Amino acid sequence: MIYQVYVRSFLDSTGDGIGDLAGVRAGLPYLKKLGVDGIWLSPFYPSPQHDHGYDVAGYCDVDPLFGDLAEFDLLTAAARRLGIRVLLDIVPNHCSDQHPWFRQALASAPGSRERGRFHFADGRGPDGSEPPNNWHSMFGGPAWSRVTEADGRPGQWYLHMFAPEQPDWNWRTPEVADEFDQVLRFWLDRGVDGFRIDVAAGLFKHPELPDSPDPEADARTRDSVNPLAWNQPEVHDVWRNWRAVCEEYTARDGRERLLVGEVSVPTARDHALYVRPAELHQAFFFDLLSAPWNADVFRKVIGEAMQDIAGTGSTVTWVLNNHDQVRTVTRYGEPTPEGSGLGAARARAAALLMLALPGAAYIYQGEELGLPEVVDLPDDVLTDPIFRRTGSRARIRDGCRVPLPWSGQASPFGFTSGAEGARPWLPQPDYFAEYVTERALADTRSFWHLYRDGLQLRSRLPQLGDGPLEWLDTPPGVLGFVRGAGPLRGDGLLRGDGLVCAVNFGTAPTPAPVSGTPLLASGPCPAGVLPGSTAAWWINDS
Ligand code: GLC
Repeated sequence: MIYQVYVRSFLDSTGDGIGDLAGVRAGLPYLKKLGVDGIWLSPFYPSPQHDHGYDVAGYCDVDPLFGDLAEFDLLTAAARRLGIRVLLDIVPNHCSDQHPWFRQALASAPGSRERGRFHFADGRGPDGSEPPNNWHSMFGGPAWSRVTEADGRPGQWYLHMFAPEQPDWNWRTPEVADEFDQVLRFWLDRGVDGFRIDVAAGLFKHPELPDSPDPEADARTRDSVNPLAWNQPEVHDVWRNWRAVCEEYTARDGRERLLVGEVSVPTARDHALYVRPAELHQAFFFDLLSAPWNADVFRKVIGEAMQDIAGTGSTVTWVLNNHDQVRTVTRYGEPTPEGSGLGAARARAAALLMLALPGAAYIYQGEELGLPEVVDLPDDVLTDPIFRRTGSRARIRDGCRVPLPWSGQASPFGFTSGAEGARPWLPQPDYFAEYVTERALADTRSFWHLYRDGLQLRSRLPQLGDGPLEWLDTPPGVLGFVRGAGPLRGDGLLRGDGLVCAVNFGTAPTPAPVSGTPLLASGPCPAGVLPGSTAAWWINDS
C-alpha cells in the first residue's frame, strides 16, 4: 500500500501555509501507525507552481517552498529507519516554461538545436497565425501557444498538452532521453525507492504532428484520447530503459526499485502493454476512480483489470482517490458541503473492497480520514489551471487538495505551525473539525481505524496477498468473492482457508454470504446479515 502525499497540503513546518518536506518527515510516525509500505511525494522540485509542481523548472533540486536537498535527505533517512519506501513523482512529458532549456529555446532561432528539444512549429494560414494542428490541451483550449521571436515579431508555436506554462519535451531528440537518464540516477543515488511517472502514456507524439481525427472528442473528454498525441509505440522503449536503470541499482544493493506509471490509454489491453516484464512494475488502474457506485460496474471493471493484467507479471494497481479527482465520500453521495452519510458509508465499503483485492492499493492523503471533497471553495481561491482554462466551468481539482486537518477545533487545524491566524493555502471548512487526525485516532469507529485494521490484516493474512480471486454467486446489488484457497460450504459456513469479502451496494440489508461474525466490517454488521452500503470480510472461524 502506497500513500500519496500531496506535499503542499500535508503538513506545514514553516508557517507559510504551504506543506513542506520537513512536514512530511514530522508526519512519518503517523503514517507508520497507519501501516503504509511506502509514500509517493507529489513534485517538490523548483517550479513556478502553475500546476503545483507539475511544471518543473529544475529536475534535480528542491523548491525553497518545500525545503532543500538536505531536508530531502533527512526525510528519506527517517523513512528508511521506519521501513517506509519513498517514491518521487517524475514529470517527463513536459517541463515548466521557466526551465533553462525552454528559455534557451525561446531565445534561439527556428530550426535550432535548442528548439529541437521541444515541439516548435510554424503556424498555418498565410501569416502563420493559426496553430500548426488542431490538437486540444488537456486543460482546455488549444495545445499550442505562439511565441514572439527575438526581433519582436510573432513567430513559431510550441506544443503544450497541458497548460501553456508546461511545454512538451520532444522525446525524438536523444538529448532529452539522456537528460532524464541523469535525473533518474541523481535521485536513485540519493536513495529513493522508485518513481511515480506522470503522464506515462505521453512523451512521444506522431512524428508529423498531423491533425487529430476527432478534435471534438479531445476537447469534450479532456482525456488522452487523441491517438496521435498519446500512447505512441516508441514510449515503451523509454520504460524499458528506465527499468534497466532500476535493475542496475537493484543489482548493486539488492534493494528493489519501483516504477509506477500514470497510464491513461483507451483499452485495458493497451494498459497491460505498459507493465510487460521489462517495462513498468505497475501502472495505475483508474477505472475504479470513474466507476459509479454500482455492483455490476465494479464487478466488470475489477474483472477486466485482472484479466488484462494476467500474464504480464504485474499486479493491478487500485486507486479510489487521488489529487485529480473528487473524493469518494462526495462522489458516492449527494454533494452537500459537509459530505453525506451515505457517501461516507459507501466510501468505507469501497475501501474494504479495495483492500481485499489482489495487487497494490494507492491511498490519497485524507482518504484514511474520510475527508469529503470541499465543494464550496470560492472562485477567487481556486488555483487549478483547468478552472482558468475552461472559462471557470470545470471546478475539479482544488476541492480534494485542501490541507489536512490534524488537531484542534478551528482552521488551521494544526496543519501549519504558524502563529495563530496562519492561513493554509486553500481555506479549510469549519466542519474539518470532525475529521482531525487527533480525533480519528481516538475513535475506534473512525475511517482511520478501518483503514488501519484493514491494512494490518492485509499484511498479516496470506489470503490477502497476490493470490487468486474467485467470484461468489450473490444476489443483484451485492458483490462477493473469495481470496485464497477454500470453497464455501452450501450451508453458508466457511471452510478451508479462504477469506470472503462481500459488499452490499444497495441500501436494504441482505443475507450475508457467510453465517459467522465478520472479521472486519465497514459498518455495524451482525452475524448473518450484510446491511446496506456495507462491506465485510470473513475467514473460517469453525
Ligand atoms: C497528471 C497529474 C496532474 C497534472 C498533470 C500534468 O495527470 O496527476 O496533477 O496536472 O499530470 O502534469
